[in-house]
Amino acid sequence: MISQSGLLDEISPVLEDLLNIHYERSVSWTPALVVPWGRGRDFTDDEPDVDYTTEESAVVSSLMLNTLAEDNIVSFGITADRWASHDDVHRTWVNRWAAEEQRHSFALRSYLSVSRLVDPVWLEQTRMAAVSAGVKAEDFGFQSTDIDAVGMPPGVVSLWVYQTVQEAATQLSHSRTARLARDPSLRRLCGLMAGDEGHHKRMLSGLVKASMEIDPNATMLSAEAIIRQFHMPGMVGGLPGTRSLVVEVAKADILSPRVHTDLVLEPLYREWELLTESVHGDAARAQDELGEFLEGQRRRRDRFVSRHLSADTSSGHFDTDCADMKGRS
Ligand SMILES: [Fe+2]
Ligand SMILES: [Fe+2]
Repeated sequence: MISQSGLLDEISPVLEDLLNIHYERSVSWTPALVVPWGRGRDFTDDEPDVDYTTEESAVVSSLMLNTLAEDNIVSFGITADRWASHDDVHRTWVNRWAAEEQRHSFALRSYLSVSRLVDPVWLEQTRMAAVSAGVKAEDFGFQSTDIDAVGMPPGVVSLWVYQTVQEAATQLSHSRTARLARDPSLRRLCGLMAGDEGHHKRMLSGLVKASMEIDPNATMLSAEAIIRQFHMPGMVGGLPGTRSLVVEVAKADILSPRVHTDLVLEPLYREWELLTESVHGDAARAQDELGEFLEGQRRRRDRFVSRHLSADTSSGHFDTDCADMKGRS
């Protein structure tokens, strides 16, 4: 199995090529020119005057979760930076990626404030909890015995796998929220963010693919560890008040078991050839686990579709009242 520094050295030319493609294709846009500032007015300190009825409730829930996810990207940037310390190209990419993600956090929070769609006190308290908790190795799916002396899981590939799944899911979340949004400004904002996430996903997916060519056994182990444990950065640490938002977003099929299985996992399995790559030993067992996991996800998707996306949506499994979470926690 190749060393961490060996992998980073070998992958640097690929990273450089992908970064140049990213510079060519990514779109520079300015949140201040998209946010409808003219709608804004002061909040009062004691009881923010919030009106989340101008958009579908699921759209508001999605915006809340996406804002928390974009906020928490800071923690992933810190984590990635620890692996990037000896590699200039890697560091350049991490810094660029973090800058683009911060644009999303700023844009979403600004939009939510001027549109008064979300209680700003709840959002700030939850952001503080999320970012203060940071990201731990366990959040990437590793057991405590896998964690190295500085408290990190073994391998930058794990981070790239996590980020690819996260970027693919976030791209879908933004684009599918845009499709349901009533406000043209919101549709434009979500569309711009989805475009950025698509570029991030292509970059990170390319790094995982290159890692698979360099060291398929280690990459398969990372993919298995991450994919089976994945949850979005807005959910890391089980933030209070976010469970019902996730349920509502799923019921609207913005980010659901169907979307995750059909539009995130299936394409990535094909792209990385997870079920057909030639691997050995523990990696072969991990590959089998990935196959079983995908089958389980397909069964979960089918149950979800029959309960929630068919004509009869009377099942109570996801019937959580989300209205209270739009106010203060
Ligand atoms: Fe983002
Ligand atoms: Fe992104």
